[in-house]
Amino acid sequence: MSQFDLQSKIPNNVNLAADRRLQRALEQWQPRYLEWWNEMGPEGFQAKDVYLRTAIGVSGDDWAQFDYVKMPDYRWGIFLADQVPDRRVPFGDHLGNPVWQEVPGEYRNVLRRIIVTQGDTEPASVEQQRRLGQTAPSLYDLRNLFQVNVEEGRHLWAMVYLLHSHFGAEGRDEAEELLARRSGDSDKPRILDAFNQTCDDWLSFFCFTMFADRDGKFQLASLAQSAFDPLSRTCRFMLTEEAHHMFVGDTGLERILRRSAQLTRLDPNGDARAQGGIDLQTVQKFINYWFSYCLDLFGSEVSSNAADFFGAGLKGRFDEERRFDEHTALNQIKTLVMPKNGQLVNEDIDLRNAMNEVLREDYIEDCRNAIRRWSKVVQNEGVDFVVTLPSGRFHRHQGIYGGVQFNPAGELITADEFEAQRTTWLPTEADRAYLRSIMRPVTEHGKIANWIAPPKKGINNNEFEFEYVKL
Ligand SMILES: [Fe+2]
Ligand SMILES: [Fe+2]
Repeated sequence: MSQFDLQSKIPNNVNLAADRRLQRALEQWQPRYLEWWNEMGPEGFQAKDVYLRTAIGVSGDDWAQFDYVKMPDYRWGIFLADQVPDRRVPFGDHLGNPVWQEVPGEYRNVLRRIIVTQGDTEPASVEQQRRLGQTAPSLYDLRNLFQVNVEEGRHLWAMVYLLHSHFGAEGRDEAEELLARRSGDSDKPRILDAFNQTCDDWLSFFCFTMFADRDGKFQLASLAQSAFDPLSRTCRFMLTEEAHHMFVGDTGLERILRRSAQLTRLDPNGDARAQGGIDLQTVQKFINYWFSYCLDLFGSEVSSNAADFFGAGLKGRFDEERRFDEHTALNQIKTLVMPKNGQLVNEDIDLRNAMNEVLREDYIEDCRNAIRRWSKVVQNEGVDFVVTLPSGRFHRHQGIYGGVQFNPAGELITADEFEAQRTTWLPTEADRAYLRSIMRPVTEHGKIANWIAPPKKGINNNEFEFEYVKL
């Protein structure tokens, strides 16, 4: 079991006090992180007491404690899951060898790139969500937003720790850059496209935590398999926190859909907007938009990088150890559906080259489970509407389907046909303006905006009426 130092400037379980150089370097990064947080973190609520959970351990039921905290005082710490004794490389060309505690020289650049790319998404999402507090539908939701935000901040700490402790001067430079890029900035954008999209209404926020944080789950789970043990341990603990982010998105969308169905029933013309709510079709459009953008995060369907990552033991499949019997992925194929000369044809790809697609398919299946539940919720309210997940080919910007047009069913169509349907499949400026018009903050205890249903229960066994944020 690792030792926890919760009292020092930077709470940690990595025995930071024993490495004075590293400790000093991170303590110098800390005020710059706080500057970034104050500038780019949640706008308007930095001085408020928020009922937040803070990590104080890495396992068991008592890994976190709940209390009122002002966000800038949050104890962002460096926590790694406990070391697994005699852990072996679980896949790839080094299968069965002892895992690495130091970065092998030959993988230094590529590992740094992987860590920076993952790390960049963490502050990016905080930036994307920074104005949402001003339109929160309830104190419960406001608190959940801030919980997600502070934990994304901690995830940045987790990646910066790896950069500082294992990548020398280059790692320290990268840590600075992580605070310098800005979501949506044309000069210094965040690395991945989905993290440069605006997220200024709560339907987008719930789609983001449902689909983008779930991408995070799959990326972290595949990196948790890594032969570089410090990365594996870091990701394993991040997954513990990530579960709540996906819960916020999944239940948030479910609550919107329930309320939308209720308002649809209530209105004589079946028009939820006439009742001040969100119509089901608009919710579907936002699902289409965010789901498709998040599919791009998995990278190209055919990728020699993905093959190299797998071969080197850097990035495995989802739940590699438990779900697969064969861990080299050599001499195996995966059949992909390829657009070729205006048609879709099957093509066999070396399995290692298809690893991005393998991970994406597991992700899609995970999303599908939620979609089925949501449809039941809508139908239980007496409305005949089926929520659907568009085809993985729809509205893609990268990979083999990027630059080719498909309908939500995944059938090839022309660019003109796509444009003719765009406003029925994807959110329009008018949809976004409508959402902004109905999203007014609701800050009384136990009250909730008209466009969303209350949650079934509160946080940490508290009631929905609990004072989650002291305003
Ligand atoms: Fe995260
Ligand atoms: Fe997250």
